Amino acid sequence: MNKAQPIIIGSDHAAFELKEKIKAWLIDKGYPVEDAGTHSSASVNYVDYGRKVAGAVSRGEFSRGILLCGTGLGMSMVANRFPNVRAALCSDLFSAKMSRVHNDSNILVLGGRILGDILAFELVRIWLDTGFEGGRHLERIQSMDAP
Ligand code: RB5
Repeated sequence: MNKAQPIIIGSDHAAFELKEKIKAWLIDKGYPVEDAGTHSSASVNYVDYGRKVAGAVSRGEFSRGILLCGTGLGMSMVANRFPNVRAALCSDLFSAKMSRVHNDSNILVLGGRILGDILAFELVRIWLDTGFEGGRHLERIQSMDAP
């Protein structure tokens, strides 16, 4: 991915620590990052942070977002309610890659209580570095938002 484009990231308390580590990893790699919160380990409702990130991607303010909660399940449910959002909950590298190649996923969702740090960094790396194949897959993803 073009490193000039900022990435918006958000989490709840359950994945706050991993969100901070991924943010630092992204900044170290040269990606500008917009942190939508949460900003501590105090208990919050993941829906609020999922809406912030998915809304910004849905409106085209950011081309890519990353969301984290304990399992990733709640965040993926919230994010995929937004038009133009294709959020992919991934815990293996093949899925992270194929979510880009075939689905043009624009939000990566991770489970902070599921993943180790190194696997999480690798998931982010492959998701950012992999392009969309287009062609027949473009028609398919366009049909997701068709009336
Ligand atoms: C918080 O306890 C937990 O429910 C949340 O992080 C997430 O896993 C929900 O799907």
